[in-house]
Amino acid sequence: MKSMKKDITGPPNLVIRPMTVSDIDRVVLLEQQLFTDPWPKLAFEQDADSENIGFLIAEIDGAICGYAGYMLFLGGAHLINIAVASEYRGKSIAKILLNHILEIAKTAGCVNIFLDVRPSNEAAIGLYRKYGFYELFKRPNYYYSPVEDALVMVKNL
Ligand SMILES: CC(C)(COP(=O)(O)OP(=O)(O)OC[C@H]1O[C@@H](n2cnc3c(N)ncnc32)[C@H](O)[C@@H]1OP(=O)(O)O)[C@@H](O)C(=O)NCCC(=O)NCCS
Repeated sequence: MKSMKKDITGPPNLVIRPMTVSDIDRVVLLEQQLFTDPWPKLAFEQDADSENIGFLIAEIDGAICGYAGYMLFLGGAHLINIAVASEYRGKSIAKILLNHILEIAKTAGCVNIFLDVRPSNEAAIGLYRKYGFYELFKRPNYYYSPVEDALVMVKNL
């Protein structure tokens, strides 16, 4: 895929950087605000120690406004999560985070990237379709709180 980074303008002062251990408490707080089935702090702590998992932080003037996680495996990648705080939405922050992850995956030699999403999550599915992800299959009753299928989507890199 051709890089789209140059085509997107985010908010001024937006910085995208790797997550550090000192970000985890603030990310967990956002996770609890944004998801009905939030990941526990321990999951972020364990992922911070993993060699093939990475998280990016979107920050404006010291405030964490979004984050996204990815896993790299042999020839492929998985988008673990992507989230933007409500007050920062609609400013292309998710697009910029996703662009960074697509570049990381391509640089690592991945040929495709997978993700799971709730079929009811129109905003996220809109973002993924815009980036060329297409639907593969559903995992029945994958999510809890509330129980819902997961839509598995993939994009060729
Ligand atoms: C999905 C989410 C990350 C989008 O963040 P965002 O920064 O507002 O997204 P962007 O401004 O970068 O918009 C990217 C694209 O997403 C799609 N999109 C965003 N919000 C949308 C909405 N409410 N309805 C439909 N499509 C939407 C659009 O295609 C948009 O492109 P456009 O602005 O050119 O139309 C954000 O809504 C969010 O954090 N939701 C809660 C957490 C979540 O559900 N994460 C996904 C887990 S799978």
